[in-house]
Formats: sequence, structure tokens, C-alpha cells
Amino acid sequence: MTELPPFYDDLAGCLAEAWRRLEEGAAHQSGFHTPALATLGRGGAPRLRTVVLRGVDRAARALRIHCDARSAKAAEIAAEPRAALHAYDAGAKIQVRIEGTARLHGGDEVARAAWAASRPMSRLCYGTAPAPGTPLPEGGAFVLPEDEAALEAGFSAFRVVILTAARLEFLYLARQGHRRALFTWDEEGQGAAWLAP
Ligand SMILES: Cc1cc2nc3c(=O)[nH]c(=O)nc-3n(C[C@H](O)[C@H](O)[C@H](O)COP(=O)(O)O)c2cc1C
Repeated sequence: MTELPPFYDDLAGCLAEAWRRLEEGAAHQSGFHTPALATLGRGGAPRLRTVVLRGVDRAARALRIHCDARSAKAAEIAAEPRAALHAYDAGAKIQVRIEGTARLHGGDEVARAAWAASRPMSRLCYGTAPAPGTPLPEGGAFVLPEDEAALEAGFSAFRVVILTAARLEFLYLARQGHRRALFTWDEEGQGAAWLAP
């Protein structure tokens, strides 16, 4: 049997492992690098898409994602800030589910710092014409910024999403018995509990 990890029967250890994996995912390619972000669409229907996890602030329980102001997800967050994020690393056999409140940042210090740290390749995504989600007559009927000025103009459409966790669920799959833990944060403080997997 495979050796059990140190966090196996340790609630605080499970939470630390969840944040460690998220931090690692923001820095490198891993199952946690490209989580799925869920928002609520008009009429309350769930909307789900893959995103790149750009940054994690464990102390603030905050996750950073980038998107275009003209995208559906940005409009959905602006209308309804409740959002969720899901990540699974098959190698680590760990799933993390986060629910919380998302906030959009555009043209402020948060957006400027994230833009400054972005590679030109990544900045390309925010200067597309027409806007993301626009119906096209052909698959290739859109343009990407071609020069430095057009690339920089993309900043006006650049948005940072900061998702602050109010609830984090950790699931570790093990032949000896799965471990599922729930962590919550509210006005009354922090909660931590094991759940039946
Ligand atoms: C690996 C991968 C990473 C992606 N990363 C992002 C991202 O960081 N931000 C983003 O807005 N869209 C990203 N996308 C595209 C979204 O999944 C989605 O197709 C697009 O943003 C439109 O979503 P929306 O209409 O819900 O706004 C990514 C897609 C893939 C496959």
C-alpha cells in the first residue's frame, strides 16, 4: 500500500496542503494550474469554464484570475459576485472546491500590477477584435493586436478577478479510506470539520 501523506488525519494539514497545491498551481503547470471557474448566469443557471490560476494569497484566502472585461464571465461576476472554483490533480489525488465572492479589478492598482507581471503573449488575449463571445462569419474572422500600441490598448479590457474563499472543501483519495474536510470562514470565525467522503 502507498504510504499515507502527513496531512491524512490532520485537519490543519489538509488546509495547508490545499493552499500549497493552489500556490504551486499558480506557479507551475499542474492539475491546479487550470481550474474551472463557476459563475451564475442570467436567470441563475450555472456557467463553467477553464481559467489559469495566476496567483494565490493564502493569508487573504484570495485567488487571482485574469479575464477580458467584455467576456460573459466578467458580466456575470459584475451582476452576481458569488462564484466557485474547482481543481483536481490526478497525480496528487486531491480535489479542492472553493466557494466565495469574486471581485473585478480594472484600471486600478491590482490590475496594473497584474498587467505589469503578465507576459506579452498573455496580454494578446485582451486586445482581440471583435470582443470575446461575438458571433463570427468564419472561425478566423477576428484579429489580435499586432503592434506594441495595440497590445497596450488591451489594458482597458483587462480585468483581474479576485475570488475570496468563504468555503473550501478538500478531498484526498486513498485506498485506505478517502479524507474529506470542510473549511469555512464567516463573521464568527473559521470552521474546520471532517466530512464523510
Ligand atoms: C487551458 C485554458 C486556460 C484558459 N484560461 C483562461 C483565463 O485565464 N481567463 C479567461 O478569461 N479565459 C480562459 N480560458 C478560456 C475560457 O475557458 C473560456 O472559453 C472563455 O474565457 C469564455 O468564457 P466566458 O464566455 O464564460 O467568459 C482558458 C481556456 C483553457 C482551455
